[in-house]
Amino acid sequence: MTQLPGLLDTEAIRKDFPILDRQVHDGRKLVYLDNAATSQKPRQVLDALSEYYERYNANVHRGVHVLAEEATALYEGARDKVAEFVNAPSRDEVIFTKNASESLNLVANMLGWADEPYRVDHETEIVITEMEHHSNIVPWQLLAQRTGAKLKWFGLTDEGRLDLSRIDEVITEKTKIVSFVLVSNILGTVNPVEAIVRRAQEVGALVCIDASQAAPHMPLDVQALQADFVAFTGHKMCGPTGIGVLWGRQELLEDLPPFLGGGEMIETVSMSSSTYAPAPHKFEAGTPPIAQAVGLGAAIDYLSAIGMDKVLAHEHAITEYAVKRLAEVPDLRIIGPTTAEDRGAAISFTLGDIHPHDVGQVLDEQGIAVRVGHHCARPVCLRYGIPATTRASFYLYSTPTEIDALVDGLEHVRNFFG
Ligand code: ALA
Repeated sequence: MTQLPGLLDTEAIRKDFPILDRQVHDGRKLVYLDNAATSQKPRQVLDALSEYYERYNANVHRGVHVLAEEATALYEGARDKVAEFVNAPSRDEVIFTKNASESLNLVANMLGWADEPYRVDHETEIVITEMEHHSNIVPWQLLAQRTGAKLKWFGLTDEGRLDLSRIDEVITEKTKIVSFVLVSNILGTVNPVEAIVRRAQEVGALVCIDASQAAPHMPLDVQALQADFVAFTGHKMCGPTGIGVLWGRQELLEDLPPFLGGGEMIETVSMSSSTYAPAPHKFEAGTPPIAQAVGLGAAIDYLSAIGMDKVLAHEHAITEYAVKRLAEVPDLRIIGPTTAEDRGAAISFTLGDIHPHDVGQVLDEQGIAVRVGHHCARPVCLRYGIPATTRASFYLYSTPTEIDALVDGLEHVRNFFG
């Protein structure tokens, strides 16, 4: 096997992921390169989920019986793990949601219903970027439509980076919130957080960061980012589906109104009005995703034992190798940065004029799983004048051999389509 500096011991790691042993299409070895869509789950997470249901299942914060207390301790223990994983100053700043989309919708709704000084209204502006996932576009469009606020965005350079050349005109005194992605799910670009945060702070705007493609792949420190909100999801970082996180600065969470009402988010309720529990519970109405939070906690234990700096180094080596090998494929055009330095482990490309759906299907027949389409980031495809891309995305268990399989697979696609 090709050896690259910085690689993890993938032979050992892959033993933890039962699904990676699967064969598809009559005995073809699975090459799973769709990690930006969702990651696979290690045995440790699968065991934590079944152990939770076999031994501890109960509703949280409600019962006085043993199981209720144990389930509550596990659920709140998962919150501690998330807080430590992202270096949050307080565990009360960690809100559990069902996914990153819900986290981002929560921020948009908090600001839409807020009083001054946070309120978004017809005299204010919202700033996003052209490389956002739909989950960081549509909630802001909805908010703009509801309030009359103006929606603005940073465009993209031909190389797939944010065009910040007119940053002072895009982020102005009217800007209430700047919401942008840390690592693009389609371009792989890692964005320059500091420059954007500095300008937002100059004008007193809040900053929300979509870290869905960052939290699984690199050390994440919400204090170093200096943002006000950071959103991510569990299923892309070895955790189960149905669990997301919104981290928010404590004083904001204290001041901002809840979005969903219901059980557990209240202090007192009468027929005419209610008062609310302190954050984070104010934002977690109803029975929360308990088992899913426990599973996310197990995923965090798993990733932390390996070390996020080592995960990052591994993916950097794999991505560098992939960029080099993909350059050997005739007619292949990477959409996004073509250097490994400022990119994450998702690489989108086109292959001549072969439609990405055809590329994906012929790769699948060879056991290679990639994603094709607009990747829930359609404005990026419009910007580059393409209907769709093929995307290969890597994780801590990805190997150089799998990159070689992808490159061979693409040769086969080219031959197939003449
Ligand atoms: N956001 C996920 C992706 O990029 C689903 O594929």
